[in-house]
Amino acid sequence: MSENKSAKISAWNPVNTDRFLVGAPHYPEHVDESYWERDAERMAKAGFNIVRMAEFAWHILEPELGRFDFELFDRAIAILGSHGIDTIMCTPTATPPRWLTVAHPEILRVDGKGRPMSHGSRQHCDTASPVFREHSRRITKAMAEHYRDNPRVVGWQTDNELNTSMPESFSKATLSEFQLFLAGKYSTIDRLNHAWGGDFWATAYQSFDQVVLPIEFGPTFPSPGHVQDYHRFLAFSTARFQHDQVEILRAVNPSWFVFHNLGGLRDIDFRGQFTTDLDFVGYDIYPMLYDEFQRIGNHAKVQALHLDICRGFSGNYIVPEQQSSFGSQPGFCTLTPEPGEMRRMAMSSVARGADGLMFFRWRPAHFGAEIYWMGIIDHDDVPRHRYDEAKRFATEMKALQDKILGTYVRMDVGIAGSDFDNQEAHKTYPIGLPSPQDDAVLLHQYCYDRGIACGFIHPEDDLSKLKLLYVPHWVMWKGEWTERLKSFAEAGGTVVFAARTGTRDENNHVIRQTAPGTSLAKLTGVRVEDFGRLSAPGAMGLFEVMERSGGLVVPPNRPAESHRRERRFKIGNRELTAGYFYENLIVDDDVEVIAVWSNRYAEGRPMATSRKVGEGRVVYLGTYLTPDLTEALSERLFGDARIEPLIADLPEGVEVTMRMNEDRRLLFIQNYLDKPARISHVPAGINLLDAGKEVDGALALEGYGCAVVQLS
Ligand code: GAL
Repeated sequence: MSENKSAKISAWNPVNTDRFLVGAPHYPEHVDESYWERDAERMAKAGFNIVRMAEFAWHILEPELGRFDFELFDRAIAILGSHGIDTIMCTPTATPPRWLTVAHPEILRVDGKGRPMSHGSRQHCDTASPVFREHSRRITKAMAEHYRDNPRVVGWQTDNELNTSMPESFSKATLSEFQLFLAGKYSTIDRLNHAWGGDFWATAYQSFDQVVLPIEFGPTFPSPGHVQDYHRFLAFSTARFQHDQVEILRAVNPSWFVFHNLGGLRDIDFRGQFTTDLDFVGYDIYPMLYDEFQRIGNHAKVQALHLDICRGFSGNYIVPEQQSSFGSQPGFCTLTPEPGEMRRMAMSSVARGADGLMFFRWRPAHFGAEIYWMGIIDHDDVPRHRYDEAKRFATEMKALQDKILGTYVRMDVGIAGSDFDNQEAHKTYPIGLPSPQDDAVLLHQYCYDRGIACGFIHPEDDLSKLKLLYVPHWVMWKGEWTERLKSFAEAGGTVVFAARTGTRDENNHVIRQTAPGTSLAKLTGVRVEDFGRLSAPGAMGLFEVMERSGGLVVPPNRPAESHRRERRFKIGNRELTAGYFYENLIVDDDVEVIAVWSNRYAEGRPMATSRKVGEGRVVYLGTYLTPDLTEALSERLFGDARIEPLIADLPEGVEVTMRMNEDRRLLFIQNYLDKPARISHVPAGINLLDAGKEVDGALALEGYGCAVVQLS
């Protein structure tokens, strides 16, 4: 393992492991030792080849400062190893022991209200703290050296879901590290004052040691430049914290693979050192957990969205934690997968780029803050349908691994993603607007429902395999990206820019040129004359949105229609209502207007445009997506861009993706509903999950059924 450490970060990269890793996170420290042998036997019978251990066990590994005790894990690793199961060890830094926080209370995170976090849950320590970093290096080194020659320890996970519980800290350590970071970045305080706009509200500083941390509502809003740099700092210090550990692990045993299990995705720059330090990323997926469920209303789509976003960071990944059952912490819980659904969800992960997968967790705990986070074996030690499904999945992956590994996930429609600066720039000044990702979700769902190969990709990645690239409102635009997208269009691609792209510089200042800025105005043939805010589709009016973003007053009555100032537009033969934002455009002569505003003072003015560039075209959209607009736009553009579904007329409840390389094309088809599905128009091939049976045209899947069709 570990040839690809310095490989360029790309959405097309496969994971380079010697097998499809399949197993479970396992906590021998939660289980009486009399169970261990049988646990290992059952795992081996299920076809597991890997477990992950020790991410919360620092207090066992180092019961007091400098006294290490690896016995428990040594025995657990040996028993599992004797049944052919390897171990991924974790650095246990998500849960520093109590003796450490007693000795060094200054390493605790502090929240925005000045409240220090306490011992008793997890991620309570500040990854920016030099003292905490020193202890993190110490435990990592001790563990790495102890396991250096243990052939059963094959790789490492750093920490656990860094920043998922709380990325921010307002501690003294964070403040002084932030000041050092800024001094390194700006050299002189004048440069910082310029970047943050020090002449606005007297926010200028005389020296770096006067700089404060940005506190929202303290009493009102800090400057967008200040907030942007704070989050850049958090991402920098998170990557630095991880780098400390990676450096040690690599030096001790270069054959280990090293990854991190991403969770909340906050304050991590996926295209930066955080990812280049790793062999691949891991992504924990709990499809029935996320908030998007309320908005999207379908957990299969939520899973697809999260995994596609993750693949956009650096390509294929492993899933170190895949939801297997009901899960909860005291304040929330998930839905419960039905029989057959756990395997279906795991297959959907593979379909979208998982090159390894572990079911969370082998056994549920009988104590602690996750007593009802169920696993493969139940509390009463009985293996039931989840065990059978895990076994079936592991057997299938073993049989298919040579076909699956080494393939990438096809993407015809790309959505610009994975850009830390743009993600943060939105958050520094959201005014109740959807984030770039929230806007793009509509296009992702449109493609998902129709079986169109879609995913997220950064403009600096290899775009040559795409047919269309949608750029949601990325306010921070780099000139070199314009050149890349121009070449993509010249070679036949379609680029779609949405409103507000390119309107701020890297300091988060609004640009001085007419939007969308010199290079994009030239490429699109469009200039933005004026803009304004609209309410969300179907919403009462703007105040509703503002209440969420800033605690402002909600008017008691629904405003009359004339006061809501809805904007409509015509595209093709439809007239639709715009949502969130509008721009009034002026266009160059060589630009075709594909939609016009159709009411109020802007009636007849361009709303969306298309300009021919080489063999392809560049489209500009003077608004944000709505479901109606997404449909109208896709109908207008997809035909010309030669974008077609992987399977025509896909029935509701069925998802399809393609994993492929030069030698093979595998169609992954999953039925995410509990009733049988009949799919027509499946291209000819053999179903690898059904003893190689030939498929040509029709395919029947039972409820939660799956097929992997290798195309002829
Ligand atoms: C993950 C976390 C696990 C466990 C799981 C279920 O986010 O990494 O340790 O807590 O969720 O809550």
